[in-house]
Amino acid sequence: MLDLTVGHGDPLTEPVELLAVICGDGDLDQPLLKQLDDRLEGLVRRAAAEERFRGKLGQTLSFHTRGAVSPRRLLLVGAGAIAREGERNLRVAAGSAVRAAAASGATRASIAWCNAGGGAAALEAAAEGALLGTYRFDKYLTGERAQHSNLSGVTLHAPAALEGAEQAVARARSTARAVARARDLVNEPAGYLTPSRIAASAESWARGAGLTTEIRGRAECAALGMGLFLGVAQGSDEEPRFIHLSWKPTNARRRVVLIGKGVTFDSGGLSLKTNEGMLDMKTDMAGAAAVLAATVAAGEEKLPIEVHALAACTENMPSGRSYKLGDVLRSMDGRTVEINNTDAEGRLTLADAITFGLRLQPDALLDFATLTGACMVALGPHIAGLMSNDDALAGEFLAAAETAGEEMWRLPLPPRLAEQLKSEIADMRNTGERWGGALTAGLFLKEFVGATPWVHVDIAGPSSTSKEFGHLGKGGTGFAASSILRYLRRNSV
Ligand code: BES
Ligand code: MN
Ligand code: ZN
Repeated sequence: MLDLTVGHGDPLTEPVELLAVICGDGDLDQPLLKQLDDRLEGLVRRAAAEERFRGKLGQTLSFHTRGAVSPRRLLLVGAGAIAREGERNLRVAAGSAVRAAAASGATRASIAWCNAGGGAAALEAAAEGALLGTYRFDKYLTGERAQHSNLSGVTLHAPAALEGAEQAVARARSTARAVARARDLVNEPAGYLTPSRIAASAESWARGAGLTTEIRGRAECAALGMGLFLGVAQGSDEEPRFIHLSWKPTNARRRVVLIGKGVTFDSGGLSLKTNEGMLDMKTDMAGAAAVLAATVAAGEEKLPIEVHALAACTENMPSGRSYKLGDVLRSMDGRTVEINNTDAEGRLTLADAITFGLRLQPDALLDFATLTGACMVALGPHIAGLMSNDDALAGEFLAAAETAGEEMWRLPLPPRLAEQLKSEIADMRNTGERWGGALTAGLFLKEFVGATPWVHVDIAGPSSTSKEFGHLGKGGTGFAASSILRYLRRNSV
């Protein structure tokens, strides 16, 4: 990981090749930039005017300092409405800053910011952005493209008297490690990352952090009666794996169950997807990746809260053994489900994981799943849909997500739509009609939850991205890992 330090000295005398200054829209007369401009005899203002740099989010401007100050190159990074959107935009801008620093060939860089508030939360966000901005999935690149960047160290310039700076950076390191682990799993091709391999990764992380791992195969899941999960797994030559990580500190006051959808490849099954629809379906285990990584981090941070991560991992494949349309499957809690679309597999795997999770008698149960294309139609590619049976828990989780800078929007669970899940020959069927598809998926899960406070987050959109954005590179984003970890930290005090 990038060597990250907090500096309180003068950023203009520091021995680094590049100094990045993050500023908001119209912030060019902030003290830090004014001082810089004076030392550089008006160069900052001239360059900004020439290049029309205003400080909009995502805008950057780089120029040589010609020996006037220690850093040879100065990079201005726009952070938009930083005074209002402080931490969120600072995280994005710090990501852009390290990306640009790495591209410039710098080995050491420093980052300063103005107008974002000088608190530990701002430092933490900047640290996360810097660490995550250097993430690359380069395992399969060869030749020149396989070369790592030379950037090995970054100094973050925090206000001199900042309290809790070291703890803030330590939290950022833990968050970034969790997010990077989740991204690694999401980015792995499905041909490599089978259910068994997710289980092996989870187990090796868990062992290092003092968590317990239990992995169940087909036979053990059958013995537990997980007919929905195994129905989905039936068509695949790959062995399914039900992963259960637990972190049980002796001083825990609350017990939380986290469930992640772990479909390592979603072809749609016999309700086969198109080429276009299947292209990104190696990412259909992003929920599992997020809950496993966040739970391991909770253990590494020794949080005083009991956490269980569950992931029913399988492929969804067409074959002579696949589950069929019209089949009736039996859930772990004894209910029957008629299958009218084998591509609505996620809710089936989640339903049995929910039943398993409820037997652990949690205070709260949260699930994360790349569940529906309909959620992306509703909220676009960057915002997750959150559904819940408990306003307090929903509010608490949304607040944690807000500090993580992960956008989530609450959607309703309208009882009228549940009518669509009725079946003639079974207790229910697995899909409703087209409109409101994210909600009927949520309503299906709700059937299995009962009275336990529950949150369901549909992360189909934000779990991967095709456009670089600050600390988020192309590919898996690790979405939700940071929100979950923050939620667990808040429940630990
Ligand atoms: N994994 C998909 C949802 C998805 C779609 C995630 C696009 C990310 C991007 C899920 O299993 C699925 O296929 N859902 C169906 C549900 C439908 C059959 C009711 C969908 O959204 O079309
Ligand atoms: Mn599907
Ligand atoms: Zn799926």
